[in-house]
Amino acid sequence: MSTKKPVRVAVTGAAGRIGTSIIFPIAAGDVFGKDTPVILQLLELPDALGKLRGVEMELRDCAYNLLRDVVVSDDPNVAFKDADALFLVGSKPRGPGMERADLLKDNGKIFIGQGKAIDAVAADNARVIVVGNPCNTNAYIASQMARRVPKANFTAMTRLDQNRAAAQLAGKAGVEVGAIGNLAVWGNHSPTMYADYTHAYINGRKVSEVITDHEWLNTAFLKTVAQRGKAIIDAQGVSSAPSAAWAAIDHMRDWHHGTNGRWVSMAVPSDGSYGIPEGLICSFPCTVDANGQYHIVQGVELDAASKAKVQASVNELLEEREMISGLLAG
Ligand code: NAD
Ligand code: LMR
Repeated sequence: MSTKKPVRVAVTGAAGRIGTSIIFPIAAGDVFGKDTPVILQLLELPDALGKLRGVEMELRDCAYNLLRDVVVSDDPNVAFKDADALFLVGSKPRGPGMERADLLKDNGKIFIGQGKAIDAVAADNARVIVVGNPCNTNAYIASQMARRVPKANFTAMTRLDQNRAAAQLAGKAGVEVGAIGNLAVWGNHSPTMYADYTHAYINGRKVSEVITDHEWLNTAFLKTVAQRGKAIIDAQGVSSAPSAAWAAIDHMRDWHHGTNGRWVSMAVPSDGSYGIPEGLICSFPCTVDANGQYHIVQGVELDAASKAKVQASVNELLEEREMISGLLAG
């Protein structure tokens, strides 16, 4: 039996499509390590608590060695108590014909209350990933409620966009996904995101040397990544879930264990790097050191076309920030 202190992990929307897919790998040790016990603290809306109790039964029935306890609640002050890591998933998904920003009115307010609850009861150095859309701005809202927990600990998920981009490049080049490195998603998790392949490599060679169809790289590739969420909704009627859950696991696992110099895309509060306004939760290429501290990769040379794409996405984030200014003031 592991004698390590259990990691307390809160997951919101835990009876939903993504939430359910996240909690089983966490309990199996895929995020915090195969020798680290976990306590799952699951939050749902009152109406979904019955369903969540069924999920809890299944979790317990898996007889995971590392699962020390499961807490089920509809109160964030209970579910977030002493939490070391929080996956904020619970919120409305978009349907056909909607943009993610259309969700801001309904979902934004969730992150006021949950941000406050994190600051009130979570562990001092609690780490947050926001998955619920529009995730960058929802993470910004939650981060603005933080007084005790560092604002830098509030992040949003663009790893799904990076994973989508890597899979597209690997397919086109006929290589394993693991051959791709230094792929960076910049900006907002929205159609304005910029999947920057210009610094990426495939088996150590520049992408543009291996994939000589530059027309594809600059049009179909970028569009496919930017519009993948919509394509999935159009095809299956509901938004991505298993791939989103897997990306959230990738994000938190890499943040916990470090990336050994590998670039990963994380939406984090800007520190002013690349002229991006401070505090805006923007996706950057990041590395995570052996102490689990993330760093925005510095010195990436962006050409004029790349700079324009990043700026367009930053402008959209600024517009979203403007849209929620009343919510923050009130
Ligand atoms: P879902 O409808 O299947 O599940 C959402 C769950 O959240 C429901 O069970 C609901 O009861 C619960 N919930 C709603 N409000 C809550 C609250 N205030 N507190 C606790 N729980 C609450 O939806 P889903 O497919 O799991 O998607 C969840 C969110 O993730 C959506 O906003 C979706 O757009 C977003 N998403 C983001 C990405 C990304 O890459 N960032 C990818 C896919 C989906
Ligand atoms: C995605 O990228 O799949 C999610 O953000 C869901 C959506 O609404 O597109």
